[in-house]
Amino acid sequence: MGRKLLLENAHIEGIHTYEVYRKHGGYRSVEKALKTMSPDAIVEEVKKSGLRGRGGAGFPTGMKWSFLAKPEGVPRYLLCNADESEPGTFKDRFLMEKIPHLLIEGMIVSSFALGANTSYIYIRGEYSWVVFILEKAIAEAYAKGWLGKNILGTGYDLDLYVNPGAGAYICGEETALIESLEGKRGNPRVKPPFPAVKGLWQAPTVVNNVETIAAVVPIINEGGEEYAKIGIGRSTGTKLISAGGNINKPGVYEIDLGLPMEEFLYSDEWCGGIKNGKRLKACVPGGSSVPILPHFLVCKTATGEDRLMSYESLSDGGFATGSMLGSGGFIVYDEDQCIVRNTWNFTRFYHHESCGQCSPCREGTGWMEKVLWRLENGQGKLSDIDLLVDVAKKIEGNTICPLGDAAAWPVAAAIRHFREEFEWHVNEPKACMERNYGLVKEPVAVV
Ligand SMILES: Cc1cc2nc3c(=O)[nH]c(=O)nc-3n(C[C@H](O)[C@H](O)[C@H](O)COP(=O)(O)O)c2cc1C
Repeated sequence: MGRKLLLENAHIEGIHTYEVYRKHGGYRSVEKALKTMSPDAIVEEVKKSGLRGRGGAGFPTGMKWSFLAKPEGVPRYLLCNADESEPGTFKDRFLMEKIPHLLIEGMIVSSFALGANTSYIYIRGEYSWVVFILEKAIAEAYAKGWLGKNILGTGYDLDLYVNPGAGAYICGEETALIESLEGKRGNPRVKPPFPAVKGLWQAPTVVNNVETIAAVVPIINEGGEEYAKIGIGRSTGTKLISAGGNINKPGVYEIDLGLPMEEFLYSDEWCGGIKNGKRLKACVPGGSSVPILPHFLVCKTATGEDRLMSYESLSDGGFATGSMLGSGGFIVYDEDQCIVRNTWNFTRFYHHESCGQCSPCREGTGWMEKVLWRLENGQGKLSDIDLLVDVAKKIEGNTICPLGDAAAWPVAAAIRHFREEFEWHVNEPKACMERNYGLVKEPVAVV
C-alpha cells in the first residue's frame, strides 16, 4: 500500500470545509513556515526534497524557485497553473474539488518562500464548479486569518485570487497563462526572458502546477529529507495519476514514484487490470502529448527491465522505446481500440488548440489531422504514412512553445510502433477492427 501525502484525507466527509480540514492537521505547515523558517530555508527544504514539477516537464521545483529574480522594490508573483486541459489528465481537478484547502495552504507557504504578496490560481474555465469550491475555501481562509494582512501576526501579507480561463489548452503553457491573466489573448511569449525574470506585468514570476504546490505542504511538515526517501533516484515523493481508458478501476491514484507499471495496471489496489478480460494493446502513460507505448513496452523496458512509474524509467531508451511521465494522465487501450483513430482524435485536438502563432504548428497540425482523417476513412495512400512522419519532424522543435512537440510526438510514436496498422487502413480499409493483433497473453499480475 503506497503512502498518501496529498490524498490521505481526501475522502473524509466535509474535508473541503475549513473546520474539518483544520481538525485533521490543516495549515500546520503555514504555522511552521511563517513562524519558524526564513523564506530561504523553505526554498532549501524544497530543494532537499527533490520535488520535480508535476505539470509535465518535471523541472526541479527548488531550483526553479532559486532562479527567481529579486530586484528591490519590484513585486513578485506566484501563479498556480490549474489549467489542466491535457486529454487524459484530471488529477488537479480531483485535488482542488476534494481538498481545496491543501492547495491554499501550499500557496501560502510557497508565496511566503518566494516573497510574493499577491498570488493567483489560474483555473481552466470548464472547471466552473471548482472555481466556486476554491472561492469558498479562500473566503474561509481569509476569515480565519490565513490570508490577508499580517498573517499569524508575522507581518506577512498575502492576497490570493482565482482567475478562470476561457477554455484554451494553450493557456496552460506558462507564458500564455501570464498573457491571459494580463487580459490578453493567450499566446505564448518568446523566451528568454523567462518568467523568473519577466513574468506577470513584467515582474519576476513563478508558475507551478497545482500538485507541485500542494506537495510543498508535506515537505514542510515532514522535512525535505523525509520526502526524498520516498520514490526512486531523481523521482522523489508521490505522484497523482489520473487513470482512464479500458481498465476496471479508472480514477485518481496517489502512488510512490517508482511503482512497477505492471503492478499499477493489474493490481486491484490501482487500475485492477484490463476491462472485460481483454488484452492490453497500448498505453499512453503521461497524457495525450507523450509517446504511446505498445503492449510489450508497457510493463518492460526495451532491455527487459521492469518499467517503473518514474521520470527516468518511463523515458528509458528515449522516444524510440520509451515515453514520459508527463502530467500523469494514464490512458489504457485494449485490443479492440484503433490506434489510427485515436491518433487522429488527438491530432484534431492539437489542431483546434494551436494558438496559430507559429506556422509549423498552425499548418502542420491541420495537415496531420487531414491526412489522418483520410487514412482512418479508407481514403489514404501508403505514402501518407511517411508524409505524416515528415510533417511531425518539421513541427518538432520549430515552435515558440512545446505545443508543437506535443502534437508531433503522438503521431510519430503511433507510426513508429503501429506502422502495420496504418498500412492496413490503406490496404484493407477498416480491417483494423477485425484483425488479430498477435498480442501475447499478458502475464498474470505479480501482486
Ligand atoms: C500547451 C501546453 C499546455 C500546458 N498545460 C499545463 C497545465 O494545464 N498545467 C500545468 O501545470 N502545466 C501545463 N503546462 C506546462 C507549463 O508550461 C509549466 O511548465 C508548468 O505549469 C510548470 O509547473 P511545474 O514546474 O510545477 O510543473 C503546459 C505546457 C504546454 C506547452
